[in-house]
This record gives sequence, structure tokens and C-alpha cells, in this order.
Amino acid sequence: AAPTVKLNSGYEIPIIGLGTWQSKPDEVIAAVEYALKEGGYRHIDCAWNYGNEKEVGEGIRRSGVPRSEIFVTSKIWASKLHDVEAALDESLANLGLDYLDLYLVHWPIHLNPNGNHPIFPTLPNGERDVVRDWPLRETWKQMEAMVKKGKVRSIGVSNFSERVLEQDILPYAEIVPAVDQCELHLYNPQHKLVAYLKSKGIVPQAYSPLGSSNSPLLKDETAAAIAADRGLQVSDVLLGYLVAKEIVTLPKSVNPARIKANLEGALAAAKKLTPEDIEKLDGVAASGKQLRLIQPPWGVDLGFENWPVK
Ligand code: A2P
Repeated sequence: AAPTVKLNSGYEIPIIGLGTWQSKPDEVIAAVEYALKEGGYRHIDCAWNYGNEKEVGEGIRRSGVPRSEIFVTSKIWASKLHDVEAALDESLANLGLDYLDLYLVHWPIHLNPNGNHPIFPTLPNGERDVVRDWPLRETWKQMEAMVKKGKVRSIGVSNFSERVLEQDILPYAEIVPAVDQCELHLYNPQHKLVAYLKSKGIVPQAYSPLGSSNSPLLKDETAAAIAADRGLQVSDVLLGYLVAKEIVTLPKSVNPARIKANLEGALAAAKKLTPEDIEKLDGVAASGKQLRLIQPPWGVDLGFENWPVK
């Protein structure tokens, strides 16, 4: 099992969790069951928007691992920010759970809940139908109420930049977000954001830590050289690099061998990587290898570096 990191809520989160974005519903049941039963995982990261919460819940049940031993995260979709409890109840019902360990605001934007599509409402001119004057404060207040009600143990955010946290959440938060889940990997390490989060007691979580599908990171020369030196796979180096920095890392896989290898390899790599290895890996993006995988067309400046408004 993976070691844990303490959240500002007092709860412990396993430093490696199974990612489930793009895991097909018919594959994710077995993936979650395997991860828990054989792979050593105790942490599953999912979201309403991934369209597979029911199957994730089924995998959790089939694993036979007691609920109390598993850390489960879900995320409120952007078209639901006006009614957190309804959204949370839907995720809980999908998963078949009576509480979440962690509930995240998936994006710092509100999509029109009465728009032309329940997930991706779009204006006639093709732009996303964003409620531009929505006060995030209202959503965060409702998130905090869910903790008080006992429906979630910890709350946090995802895709929130330093600017949004500094200007819009931290000034009024009674409960400081426990985590900020962002795209973090070798080619998008966001050193400044990670340092900021740590200074505020917010745990950084890495999505797409391997660079998502068809990843160029798996062929990176610096990571490959270090992997050869240390007797590791390149994927181990990519994951262990993040784990060594105490970033909660969420590799996605539906393949049993890779599910198991990712947890074991990440932990082995986090131990084997030397400070010099980490320094080299830290410099890879700065040397020009920069890649922002997720570029959502919200048409809103979210305050991230390297993130053009589309
Ligand atoms: P699969 O589910 O078939 O294993 P990320 O976590 O960065 O989003 O990356 C997930 C992608 O990388 C998926 O396409 C996944 O495919 C693949 N993947 C997961 N683990 C490994 C690994 N150890 N080596 C190579 N590819 C992997």
C-alpha cells in the first residue's frame, strides 16, 4: 500500500490513487476491483463528468475491501455549481456510498445549468455557455456545508490557479481547500504553483502524471537515462518524481499489469531517485520541453501559465 499524506482536514490521503478519467465504463469495474484487491491501491479518484461513477462503485463493492479502508474522491461538474448538495447526492448514489473522502470543485467556472446541453452547454456562436458572474463563494459555502453535514470528509478544488485561490477562495474560505488537483507532470511541472499550494497547506494532486494517452513523456531522454541508471521503467521515474515531491499522484490505467506496476514502480522510484536525479527532472520543462495536455475551451482566463484562452 502507498504511504499517506496528511490533509489540512486531519485526514490521511494515500499518495497514489487510481485515475479513472477516460476509463470506459465496461473496463473500469474490473480495473477498480483489481487495483483494490491485488494492486495495493486504497485511493480511487473519479468524477461525475467521467461518466463512470456507477461502475467505479461496482468495482469498489466487488473488491470486498471495507469502505473505511478506501479513500474515494469525486468532483462536482461545472454545470452544477449552484446546487452542491444535489450534485453530491447524485455522485453518492452513483457510487453507492454514503460519504466521500474528498469532493472537489472540478473547474473554477460555472456552465449554464439551463443551457442547451447538461454537460457542455454551448452558445449559438459556438462558445461555451459560461455563467460569467457566478460567485464561486456561493459554491464554496455550499461545499463547506457538506462537510458539516458529514457527507464529505474533506473538500478541495481542481484546476484552480494561484490567482483564483488567492483572490477568490482563500479570502473567505472557512475551510481551506485540502487539495488542488491540476495537470502536473514532467513537461508541465508548475513549480511555482506547487510551491504556492504547499505554502498554504494545500496538497497538490497530479492528474495526467504520465502525460495521458500516447504520451511523449514515456520517451523522454532524461527520464529514460535515469530509469536505465536506477533499474526502473520510465513510467516509474515519471510517477516517482512526483511522489518524491509529496505530490499526490493519480495514474490512470485499466490494464492490470500496468495498474500494479504503477503503484509499485512509483514507490520504488521515489526511494531510488537521488536529489541530482530530481534536479535534472526539475529542469526538463525549463529546457523547453513544455506540454499542456488539457486545454478546455471555456474562453475564460483561469490564471495558469502556459494556458492560452480558447
Ligand atoms: P491503459 O489504461 O491502457 O494502461 P495518465 O495517468 O497520465 O492519464 O496516463 C494514462 C495513459 O497511460 C493511459 O492511456 C494508460 O493506458 C497509459 N498507461 C498507464 N500506465 C502506463 C504505464 N505504466 N506505461 C505505459 N502506459 C501507461
